[in-house]
Amino acid sequence: MARVLKQCSSSVAFLVLIGVVSHATTEWPNDVSNINFGHTNSSHMSLAHSDVSRHDFMKAKATQKDDYVLLMFDEIVMARDEEGGIEQYVNALIPEGNNPRLLEIGFGMGISADFIHKRGCASHTIIEANADVMKTLVDWRIKRAESSNCLVTPIFGFWEDAVSQLGANTYDGIMYDPHPSTATVPFLKEARRLLRPGGRVVFFLSVYDNRTVAATWRHTNRTLRKAGWHDDEIGKPKLFHGEVMADCGHKYTKPGPTEECPFRPLTYIIPDVKKKKDVPTLADHDTATEAWSDTRAQSEL
Ligand SMILES: C[S@@+](CC[C@H](N)C(=O)[O-])C[C@H]1O[C@@H](n2cnc3c(N)ncnc32)[C@H](O)[C@@H]1O
Repeated sequence: MARVLKQCSSSVAFLVLIGVVSHATTEWPNDVSNINFGHTNSSHMSLAHSDVSRHDFMKAKATQKDDYVLLMFDEIVMARDEEGGIEQYVNALIPEGNNPRLLEIGFGMGISADFIHKRGCASHTIIEANADVMKTLVDWRIKRAESSNCLVTPIFGFWEDAVSQLGANTYDGIMYDPHPSTATVPFLKEARRLLRPGGRVVFFLSVYDNRTVAATWRHTNRTLRKAGWHDDEIGKPKLFHGEVMADCGHKYTKPGPTEECPFRPLTYIIPDVKKKKDVPTLADHDTATEAWSDTRAQSEL
């Protein structure tokens, strides 16, 4: 589907050189492609969205067609042709099916949200930045309540603003797919803070050219480590091969493949990233020392 391709335009030359067709991350050149949008990454808003501010994005028309595609700015943001890949991300997020507390970023068509509820969860907090999509999320939530006991808490806003309101060590899993963003250092840092020990973060990552899988993962691995993840928390990703419509938002007529929107192979890279435990920081040490001194002072009274 188109959402994979459209992100390349601002850094086309560079990305094609290394063969990465999908999401870039913060370390790539032109980290902030759109100053109005803020710190996300170079791929954010890179095509039709290049002049879009956060406010524009928030109120942009989001249209679903045929229950198959979600279009914004005449581009495909999400499509059903990704169902197979998305299911793999959810399976990686909830491997044990142990009723986790989850955070999801980017509702889209609710495909991952549906898989999450089929697998089961204790709670599901969803952050969504677009108002039209948010309305779909509210409708979905009402309908889902008929078949799922999992507590859903929708949050309207950008994850970049919202996550600081969420407590540390809160979630067993985080699913991150706020297209057109990718997993950035700031996000991965926050993810580690929000996860409980044993919690997993899963983020959307894909390439058209299989030969670029290794380089893409090496880059992602570096991004994870910059964000504070440890080597023993980063496992070998799983790969899933799917087929999606090529970049064809305004040419979309009906569920693909069509002549205008042919399918092309896509490899999903499914991270295996699990938080082990919090490494005590200097601040924790100071707090512990203060607590110890307080206890001692009290016992000496
Ligand atoms: C590709 S869709 C998500 C697809 C979803 N996983 C599914 O299975 O249907 C991306 C969604 O993220 C939202 N989004 C984009 N940037 C965001 C941000 N910074 N914070 C929160 N939501 C964002 C978009 O409005 C869109 O609804």
